Amino acid sequence: MTPYAKEQLGMFINNLVQAAKAMTLYSPEHRMTAAHASRALENLNQILASQETLKIIRLGAELFVGGIPIEKSPLADRLNQQMSRYGIGHISIGRGADSADILLLMQIVANKVEQKLQPTLHLLFGTIDLDDTRIRPDDDSQAIPTYSAIPNELMSQLSDDFESCSSREHFDLRGVMALVAGFITSFRRESNPLLALVPLREMDEYTFTHSLDVCILNIAQGMSLGYEGQILHDIGIAAMLHDVGKQFVPKDVLNKPGELTEEDWQTMRMHTVNGANYLLNTPGMPRIAVMSAFEHHMKYDMSGYPKVPPGWQINLCSQITMVSDCFDALRTRRVYKDAMDFEKVAGIMLEVAGTGLNPALTLNFIKTLRKMGEQ
Ligand SMILES: [Fe+2]
Ligand SMILES: [Fe+2]
Repeated sequence: MTPYAKEQLGMFINNLVQAAKAMTLYSPEHRMTAAHASRALENLNQILASQETLKIIRLGAELFVGGIPIEKSPLADRLNQQMSRYGIGHISIGRGADSADILLLMQIVANKVEQKLQPTLHLLFGTIDLDDTRIRPDDDSQAIPTYSAIPNELMSQLSDDFESCSSREHFDLRGVMALVAGFITSFRRESNPLLALVPLREMDEYTFTHSLDVCILNIAQGMSLGYEGQILHDIGIAAMLHDVGKQFVPKDVLNKPGELTEEDWQTMRMHTVNGANYLLNTPGMPRIAVMSAFEHHMKYDMSGYPKVPPGWQINLCSQITMVSDCFDALRTRRVYKDAMDFEKVAGIMLEVAGTGLNPALTLNFIKTLRKMGEQ
């Protein structure tokens, strides 16, 4: 987003919320309301002159555009609160939006949507967002700076949770929550759990150790983006469980040394849907963990799987998980390829930024890892 578009975005939100406030006192046609509404439309047209769509993503108390948090203001907070009230995780406004679309946005902000919220030709709403109802203070759990520091009891509980989940109705979240809290404490104390990333791994424990790595990488990304409290924990939990559906894939397919057949691939791809379904049945499971399990192979340009209806918006946490997942898959040895060094991995990631991965998150990820010394 250009600096000019950024300025227009601030003005767009201000005018939109002012118009909505005026609408609570006057009619939509009243000159007070109409003046703000038409300015909001002008600002929007300026933004959409240089980009096809404007996507506003709500992540807890923050609003994001293009992967970057937008400046806090009471008016932006008002928009956020109303998006939350209507269960909106993302709003996507396409080029061609008109005054009727602005009016619908005003109704959302003014709390005046009378019927069920419906998308229009140029306005789409994503209804998945972070579950910020369970606010958890940043506690001071025992730090886990390396994998070898994971207490034996917790380690065996975790491997057991993963190993046996295909035969259990619910996933037991307690071990994963303790692990995530330990990693977060460790980052806060400025030890560097990134150094603990597993370099090589045994095939049969691939999913579990890969999940540990993706968890650490997601927490590093989440912290670099300014998340804390429950949301940060949930971003870590989502990473730990993103591939849980692989526990439902037959071991001979999962660990097959040679090329997979088309049928094998079909089975493998089901780990997204099966994982999400399984997590959905677990009480207390953060919604973003379910979404990340479902969406983490969709790719930024929607060319991946599973296939979803047009207009689908990928949750930001799933996009964060995609970045960590891609990095870990490239840097560690898979059955069919060798490990690569950081610069090579970073180069490949930058090549797919904008198609496979969210570009803003990818750049931020590489910057964060460089800063933390994974070079
Ligand atoms: Fe996966
Ligand atoms: Fe993965």
